[in-house]
Amino acid sequence: MTKLCVNVDHIATVRQARGGDEPDPVFAAAIAETAGVSGIVVHLRGDRRHIQDRDIEILKNTIKTHMNIEMAATEEMLSMAERVKPDQVTLVPERPGEVTTEGGLNAANLVEPLKDATSRLREAGIKVSLFIDPDPQQVEASAQIGAGMVELNTDAYSIAPNENEQDRTFEALKSGAELASELGLRVAAGHGLNYRNVSRISMIPQVEELNIGHNIIARASLVGLEMAVRDMLALMD
Ligand code: PXP
Repeated sequence: MTKLCVNVDHIATVRQARGGDEPDPVFAAAIAETAGVSGIVVHLRGDRRHIQDRDIEILKNTIKTHMNIEMAATEEMLSMAERVKPDQVTLVPERPGEVTTEGGLNAANLVEPLKDATSRLREAGIKVSLFIDPDPQQVEASAQIGAGMVELNTDAYSIAPNENEQDRTFEALKSGAELASELGLRVAAGHGLNYRNVSRISMIPQVEELNIGHNIIARASLVGLEMAVRDMLALMD
């Protein structure tokens, strides 16, 4: 069965909107683990817009399943990872000001710097995954870089405007996963997945893990609202 790893960044987004301490992504991670996820994902951004250094420190000590930190391959982030030692790092591109990760790494153009970053992380005992588009050139570069895993970017599939485009982007993900697996890479996938488009991706045999954030947190905020209102009314009664 495909593993689900949940990204709790957007719990932190809600917290940061008020600058207080609720809701806490540490609490969210524990609930997700109790519900059966295989891992927790957080993206520590250079601008600290959602996840904070304090979250990383506490999550490192409280996650019981698997901790995957998404980060840019900057000196600041590499040193943080070497110190914290999560189970895994996923290297992603990061453009200041972007709303969310805008695409996969151009691994083919960054072989040397990504090789250096990957070997630093591996020497610290951290597994490394590269977030890439399902493009054969990027998959081959990832194998050359020495990452043990790739996370195939499902964004184009998730936003496909019609069935033809969804079929085309799905086929690209399927072939990308096959090639990665032939080259000895483990395969994850994620970005933009939701309750309507996930099942097809979870049927690609080489894809062992899906990383999903926004849509799960969005749904949680709606399906949990009724109980939250009832709890408040009970206190007011
Ligand atoms: N994978 C990567 C590399 C990401 O950057 C993100 C977004 O933080 C996700 C997966 C999860 O995407 P979404 O929040 O759209 O489910």
